[in-house]
Amino acid sequence: MAKIKSTYFCQSCGTQSPKWVGRCPGCGEWNTFVEEIIEKEDKASWKGSSTKIAAKPRYLGEIQYNQEKRLETPDGELNRVLGGGIVPGSIVLIGGEPGIGKSTLMLQIALKLSFIKVLYVSGEESEQQIKMRAERIEIPSESCYILTETSTQNIFKQIEALQPDLLIIDSIQTLHSSFIESAAGSISQVRECTAELLKYAKESGTPVFLIGHITKEGMLAGPKVLEHMVDTVLQFEGDRHLSYRILRTTKNRFGSTSELGIYEMSGEGLREVTNPSEILLSQRDEAISGIAIGATLEGNRPLLIEIQSLVSVATYGTSQRSSTGFDSKRLNMLLAVLEKRGGMRFGSQDVFLNIAGGIKVEDPALDMAVCVSLVSSFQDVIVPSDMCFAGEVGLGGEIRAVNRIEQRISEAEKLGFKHIFISKYNMKGLNQSRYSIRLHDVSRLDEVFDNIINN
Ligand code: TYD
Ligand code: MG
Repeated sequence: MAKIKSTYFCQSCGTQSPKWVGRCPGCGEWNTFVEEIIEKEDKASWKGSSTKIAAKPRYLGEIQYNQEKRLETPDGELNRVLGGGIVPGSIVLIGGEPGIGKSTLMLQIALKLSFIKVLYVSGEESEQQIKMRAERIEIPSESCYILTETSTQNIFKQIEALQPDLLIIDSIQTLHSSFIESAAGSISQVRECTAELLKYAKESGTPVFLIGHITKEGMLAGPKVLEHMVDTVLQFEGDRHLSYRILRTTKNRFGSTSELGIYEMSGEGLREVTNPSEILLSQRDEAISGIAIGATLEGNRPLLIEIQSLVSVATYGTSQRSSTGFDSKRLNMLLAVLEKRGGMRFGSQDVFLNIAGGIKVEDPALDMAVCVSLVSSFQDVIVPSDMCFAGEVGLGGEIRAVNRIEQRISEAEKLGFKHIFISKYNMKGLNQSRYSIRLHDVSRLDEVFDNIINN
């Protein structure tokens, strides 16, 4: 009989220890170690090639490289975040909060890929529930198979019979492997099931999508180890009260990690949003102060987004600073610059900053728009609605150049803006005569304000 063996695993990062420890040496979290029984069956009895020829070192120049053929899905946003389609034999993890739409997205893709055989394995919903959802989405498909099963051994049996071209697992936390004793969803189970799927993907060349839950803290539940094992990690995020959903790459072995896909949740599933600037600029009839438009880039895609701020006298002693979608440390820095270089007294004011549309941005090129929005609210001056901004603000109040300025300008022009403020160091190589939008080159923040107030 196999010997029963148990180990302790950190539930947050997956570090293993033979004894219980209070603080994880891997991630520094307290009280995360849990005992899990791991009883390994004799793995040799299980199907799998162990007669692999040992690899030998080779010259890099000798290695043959075939341009891998990617599978283009009918979903343009997904293709973009994957770096141009699905790579054969790759394993992609989609993480997101419960109810954000992961199952809907994957089912929709399974149904749209009607030209290949897709197997959708669900451990969370019954066949009837999936059918109901498929009817809501209204995409007819004859090549999508549904399997409600949680044991990996049974799943592999079905896979062998069906030979699918794409496998979707909803979700990795519901699977369990009989090689391991502990409960489904525990670190060792998640790791074992992923390892089995990984082996299947690499051996058969079938791409696999795994859906994974994330915890309240926004981490992929279970383990960081899961992120290390897969090729690509996608995060599906968005405010549950808003209809927009953002699919973001956080790791990609086959492409860039700065790509972004935008969807809108409707009654009939998720709709691709091909012109995101339109939704990020809120529709308004009346001009109000505190609003400025920034030209940013997410991945390769230029976006124009609206920054809203509200600056008002702090009535309860200490002033508040609050920002949604923008780094609050950066906001504090910009406020300090405005205070020191522009002589504006924000110290006694409450400051609220919000990026419209529920999106999070880290592009420093938004700095100028954020400053303009703050000053606009503080001084109650309306920024003309045909103006936008792209520039980083330095600690001295200087406006610094940003990357790929042409793309930002073209996007602004396309959306009908008449003026764009950029750093004078970005003017090199730009020619005003090529654009119908007016380029304003500035080197300091006060020049920007002078322009707006005198406009
Ligand atoms: P779901 O895909 O089940 O989320 P997850 O798998 O990430 O937990 O999404 C469920 C939500 O999406 C639910 O609140 C209902 C909503 N929804 C729509 O608004 N329209 C639709 O067409 C579908 C299928 C779901
Ligand atoms: Mg689901």
